[in-house]
Amino acid sequence: MASIRLDNIVKRYDNGHVAVRDANLQIADGEFLVLVGPSGCGKSTMLRMVAGLEEISEGDIYIGDRRVNDVEPGNRDIAMVFQNYALYPHMTVRDNMSFGLRMRRTGKEEIRKRVGEAAEILSIESLLDRRPRQLSGGQRQRVAVGRAIVRKPAAFLFDEPLSNLDAKLRVQMRKELAQLHHRLKTTTIYVTHDQIEAMTLGERIVVMNDGVIQQVATPLELYESPANQFVASFIGSPSMNMIEGQIQAAGGGHMFTSDGAEFSVRVPKDNDLARSFIFGFRPEHITLNASDPRLAEVTVDVVERLGDETMAYFELAGCSCVARFEGDADVQRGGRVALHLPAENWYLFGSDAPHKTIAAGNQGA
Ligand SMILES: Nc1ncnc2c1ncn2[C@@H]1O[C@H](COP(=O)(O)OP(=O)(O)O)[C@@H](O)[C@H]1O
Ligand SMILES: [Mg+2]
Repeated sequence: MASIRLDNIVKRYDNGHVAVRDANLQIADGEFLVLVGPSGCGKSTMLRMVAGLEEISEGDIYIGDRRVNDVEPGNRDIAMVFQNYALYPHMTVRDNMSFGLRMRRTGKEEIRKRVGEAAEILSIESLLDRRPRQLSGGQRQRVAVGRAIVRKPAAFLFDEPLSNLDAKLRVQMRKELAQLHHRLKTTTIYVTHDQIEAMTLGERIVVMNDGVIQQVATPLELYESPANQFVASFIGSPSMNMIEGQIQAAGGGHMFTSDGAEFSVRVPKDNDLARSFIFGFRPEHITLNASDPRLAEVTVDVVERLGDETMAYFELAGCSCVARFEGDADVQRGGRVALHLPAENWYLFGSDAPHKTIAAGNQGA
């Protein structure tokens, strides 16, 4: 097992495209780190540089104490699992799993033992003599994971391993991967574009956008204290509502205002009243409870009743917003409703990139 360290990593592809900009990251020995971000943000590039499948343009990568910039992928002691499984179609499951070990001239008895152990961990003992085309998607993914396990590598690298599975199987495999990590405690970097997968699997999460690391934090820290507007809107479903506007002195304090609409949510004083901000609040924090500060009175455009929750869509200060209420809430399509927001549940972001979080209700206004 090993720690992994990225120092000032840059990836510039031959066509000049910069896919990763100055990434710094430390993954502790035994940690499960998730790399999440929208498609094209540089996740696979980052992982492939750690694996040695992609050259590093600038910076250094260390696995344990060893600088691996110039070490061949096969000599980095890591195992990678891909979205498309990359199994050899003409080989049995057993041969697929033992292939890497045979290439390394591991003894026959040792191979048999390790494949047996991995098959048991993954519950695929009965599939060992089948070929990949005789397996379901979930079974193939287990075999791909098994092939990584038998190597007993210093680290696992997963690149969207569950993306090809249907929703139900994805949830199950997610749970199995979490249990697997619990059992093996192997250092893991796991790439996904799915924020729910990231939140459920990651001990720490790296949020990336456009080749830049936006924030590195635990799932709860990302949700409660997003560093900027991108993280705030990427983490959480549905996304945080965002409205652009100013701060105004009102009622002995300061309020956020937009398009003439004033919210009775107190925000910090700002000396430059002409400056614009983005005000953010999560759909699940909006209430119908008159004892919370009033947010606004709105007309509800669409209502979705899902049984356990009710979604209400509305426009506020020219922005499309959504509220999520528990159970069957008293909101009607076309009806007017007063929305409230607890004093600790808002965020204020700067209007200039990178739209940093300037203040938040939960950090004391
Ligand atoms: N070989 C390549 N040459 C040029 N650009 C590339 C190459 N591979 C990937 N890219 C670009 O680099 C960016 C990051 O790609 P990638 O790391 O695959 O993103 P992700 O895995 O987050 O979807 C994308 O804009 C992609 O088009
Ligand atoms: Mg990718």
